[in-house]
Amino acid sequence: MVYKILRSVVESIGDTPLVNLERLTRGKGRILAKLEYLNPGFSKKDRIARQILEDAEADGSLRPGQPVVELTSGNTGTGLAIVCAVRGYPFVAVMSKGNSAERARMMRALGAEVVLVEQSPSSRPGQVSGEDLERVEEAAQRITRDRGAFRADQFRHAGNFRAHFLHTGPEILAQSAGAFDVFCDFAGTGGTFAGCAAAFQQNNPEVRCFVVEPNSAHHRIQGGGYEMELPLLTHARVDGVVRVSDEEAIEAARRLAREEGIFAGFSSGANIAAALKLVEQGTVVTVINDSGLKYLSTDLWP
Ligand SMILES: Cc1ncc(COP(=O)(O)O)c(C=O)c1O
Repeated sequence: MVYKILRSVVESIGDTPLVNLERLTRGKGRILAKLEYLNPGFSKKDRIARQILEDAEADGSLRPGQPVVELTSGNTGTGLAIVCAVRGYPFVAVMSKGNSAERARMMRALGAEVVLVEQSPSSRPGQVSGEDLERVEEAAQRITRDRGAFRADQFRHAGNFRAHFLHTGPEILAQSAGAFDVFCDFAGTGGTFAGCAAAFQQNNPEVRCFVVEPNSAHHRIQGGGYEMELPLLTHARVDGVVRVSDEEAIEAARRLAREEGIFAGFSSGANIAAALKLVEQGTVVTVINDSGLKYLSTDLWP
């Protein structure tokens, strides 16, 4: 353990613990969970916020004091709000009304301007569809143009991949000494999956990497499962897809809290449900994406 004073909270992003979920597996196999909800914005997306802005500062696409705009389901926006607050960029988060309300409140508290976009008439609150995201994308493009802003563009920016290829993946390899067989992650942008999978496969081509997806178009697993093409996944080696239902994700998130003391959200539940399906294939690594505190307004917690 190195004891030191950080220059800002941005330096506290990453280096999260990897925990063996041996209460959950009850002696049947091994699941290692990367606790990303312990980042300062309570999600793994803090990592990409820092990487995208640092890469953009380095290549000159982000100028000092220039506004930053991004489409978000809340977590990337929270990460960007934190990094923008520390580095002095005004930040505008564009989010669908279908995401939980505490996300918008947290981003506002961190100094962000939050623009909420109405869902399409066929959508339900708490269920953000690909169609809803198209509306948010249109609004984000318009605001970026109007403000002369830098668009963080998490679905395309290489910084999203790099955050996980350079940090999350190598941290897991160091923490586990590379002793695992399978990796699975619920894809939103696919950045975590692609970055970690590339790092793992470079280290050991035998590691099998599975994308976790919802089992229906209308689902409650916020942060992904949009049923659209994911540019960051086009060059990734995907060894398989594991589908999980809302009920399986919810049940797994509740077990994770009760049995392991890990308080996480729907998509982390989806990852754990998938890991439990894969555990017969060997040691599984997966990601605890964000905090259960972000879902207190939903019925994830009875
Ligand atoms: C809660 C949650 N889970 C999972 C994801 C998906 O992560 P990625 O975009 O790296 O695929 C996100 C992305 O926003 C998220 O907010």
